[in-house]
Amino acid sequence: MNRLLLAACLVVGLLDTAMAGAVTPGSVWTNQRGSVMRITSVDRFGRFRGTFTNNADGFACKGTPYPVNGTNQSIQITFTVNFLKCKSVATWQGDAQGFGMSVPWVLKYSDANGKPQTMTGFDFFGQ
Ligand code: BTN
Repeated sequence: MNRLLLAACLVVGLLDTAMAGAVTPGSVWTNQRGSVMRITSVDRFGRFRGTFTNNADGFACKGTPYPVNGTNQSIQITFTVNFLKCKSVATWQGDAQGFGMSVPWVLKYSDANGKPQTMTGFDFFGQ
């Protein structure tokens, strides 16, 4: 019985390790545009929360931290920020490893006529 319990704990531990990603609580990631993502929590499924401060030239909503939510299992990562005041939502999806993350993004917003628009690009974040 004890051996069975030990084996089960080992399997759960190994699965957790295999799923663990580069995003850890307290880590701070800065991209090539000067925007900063601070991670406050990561659960055992790789779901994380934190803040994202946009500092990119040519964009609005600069300098204000907005909540960021995402998932990082193994090297795959995806995260989303709702820039409430700008009525726009950005989603990044790509690969994260210790040295950095390469993440193409999609920004959805409405133009001056209220017509939905999509902008795409690429960010690299380092720690
Ligand atoms: C907006 O202008 O509608 C809100 C700010 C959007 C900032 C974008 S999100 C993708 C890209 N990477 C950044 O760090 N900032 C821009």
